[in-house]
Parts: sequence; structure tokens; C-alpha cells
Amino acid sequence: MLEKLKKIRDEFVKELGNTQDLDHLEKIRVKYTGRKSELGDLLGSLKDMTVEERREFGSKANIARNEIDDLIKEKGENLYHKQALTESFLDITKPGKKIEAGHLHPLTKVEDEIKQIFSSMNFSVVEGPEVEDEYHNFDALNIPENHPAREMWDTFWIKQAEGKNRLLLRTHTSPAQIHYMEKHQPPFQIIVPGRVFRYEALDASHEFNFYQLEGLMVGKDISLANFKFVVEEFFKKFFKGQKIDFRFRASYFPFVEPGVEVDIKLQNGNWMEVMGAGMVHRNVFNSVKYNPNDIQGFAFGMGIDRLAMIKYKIPDIRLFYNGDLRFIKQF
Ligand code: DAH
Repeated sequence: MLEKLKKIRDEFVKELGNTQDLDHLEKIRVKYTGRKSELGDLLGSLKDMTVEERREFGSKANIARNEIDDLIKEKGENLYHKQALTESFLDITKPGKKIEAGHLHPLTKVEDEIKQIFSSMNFSVVEGPEVEDEYHNFDALNIPENHPAREMWDTFWIKQAEGKNRLLLRTHTSPAQIHYMEKHQPPFQIIVPGRVFRYEALDASHEFNFYQLEGLMVGKDISLANFKFVVEEFFKKFFKGQKIDFRFRASYFPFVEPGVEVDIKLQNGNWMEVMGAGMVHRNVFNSVKYNPNDIQGFAFGMGIDRLAMIKYKIPDIRLFYNGDLRFIKQF
């Protein structure tokens, strides 16, 4: 009996050593531990033995049986891992797929940068509504109805019952000046970034919506000299260390007097207009019930898109808005 047990065990160990796959292992399991296995027969014959025989042989047979079970289990686990590595859909040796992180749109980046520079010069960042009324977008800014200057700001009107103070999509950020001054008293200095809308034919430099940044600084004795300093400081910081030539040209905007346009010289030697500005018109101060004899200040407005185009040498404003990932991913 004991010899037989030993023989079974030896054969099992040998055969197990030669097993290379799980199917074969399963056959071995059935062969050595199944109901019709030799070991099964031996264990079945225990009941015909004497008590002494049973005591001696039974425990040995059970130990052998447990040992066989354990070895099969261990081998099974090894084979499973090996097979999983080579055959399974899960190939843990493959390099992973890169998880792409999103990032801010170039216009948002440029806006953030502009805000940061003005904040460092003690300007506060405020916002105004994108849907405006006619009064704030035009009248309060000294652009009366039927004035030819209104044509500069052709826009989208909101459908509504006829009446006074119609609603429209703001054509510029300048109405935010009025909102702010209606609620605050000078001295202050603010910037207002935001989206604006125009009824435009689209081309490389015109979109029907784009971004502007309004600036307004009002106090007892704020002058054009202060404006010049602030603006030059801003552009030097924005174009980090590049040498910049400025040109201030007399210009006309209804809400300032005098009005100026600021040009900067590009690397190709051409001048490029980057902002409109001027000393706030006394009629504007009157609209917000400031006394124009007591205070004065400057205002300016610039296109964020245009600054981004200059900074990153982007030839077409429409690229910002058409959602082409080949463009967006470059920033
Ligand atoms: N609002 C003007 C525009 O959209 C830009 C502008 C010009 C703003 C002169 C100003 C300014 O504050 O003083 O064309």
C-alpha cells in the first residue's frame, strides 16, 4: 500500500514538472485526484481495512492527497500568470496610452496675462454684461441716435417689442465704464476684459465676435501723461523685454476728448494700431453724474485677439474660433 502511494506521488510530481499549460494541468488533476483515480481507489479501499491499517495508512494517504492538491494549485497559479502575460487581451508589458490633459485657449491665456500685468499696476478687474441696452452702449457714451459714428458699431439687436432703450449684443466693452461709474466714486483704475459683437463680414482680421479690454482711470488729476506711462509699461511687460517703438496719433472717438490711437512697431517694421484711447469726455462724466470740473481721467480699449495675433504671429483671427485642434494644440 505504502509503496503504491509513493509510486503515485512520484509519478504525479514528474508529470506535473512537464506540464506547460492549464489544459494539461486540468487533465492531471482529474487523473490523480478524481473519483476514478488510483489515489481515489486507494482512499476508497480504506473502509475495508482494519482499524490499525486504516490509522497508519489513512493519514499518510490524506497527507499525500493534500500535498497533491496544493502542488496543483500552486502550479495553476504560475501557469495562469504566464498565460495571462502572453495570451490575454491584457498585455501588462505594453506601454500605456498617454492621458491628454486639456489646456486653456490661447485667447484665455493672453487675457489672463493682460489681467496679471494690469493687476500688478494696481488696476482692478471688473466685468460688464454682454447683452447691453442702447443707453449704455451708445447714448451714455456720447454717441447720440442718428450720429454717423454709430455706424462704426453695427451690431445684433435683440428681438423685442418696440420701445425705448432696446437691447443689443454689446459692440464694445466701453459701456462697462458707465456701469462702473454709476456705482463707484473716483479715484479708481479698472480694466474690463470681455466678449464683444459686431455685424461684420468675416475675413482674416474681422470676426462677428471677439474680445476687448477696456481701461479706465479717473481721479483729480489723471492726465494723458499717466496714460502714456501705463500703456508703455503694459506693452513692455506684455512683449517681455522686446524693444518697442510707440506712436500716439490723434484720433476720434465720441467718448473721449482728445482721442488718440496707439500704434506699435512690429518686427517687420510695419506700424500696427493696438488701441484707441483718450481723456474721458465731459459728456460721459455728466451721464454718470460726476462733475467734470472736479475730476478727469483716461480711457482706452484694445483688442485681445489682435494682441494675441501679434504675440504669436497668428495670421487669421478666424483660427481662434473655428475649433480646429491642430491650431489649438500648439499653445
Ligand atoms: N470702444 C472703442 C471700439 O470698440 C475702443 C475705444 C477707443 C475704447 C477709445 C476707449 C477709448 O475706451 O477711449 O472701437
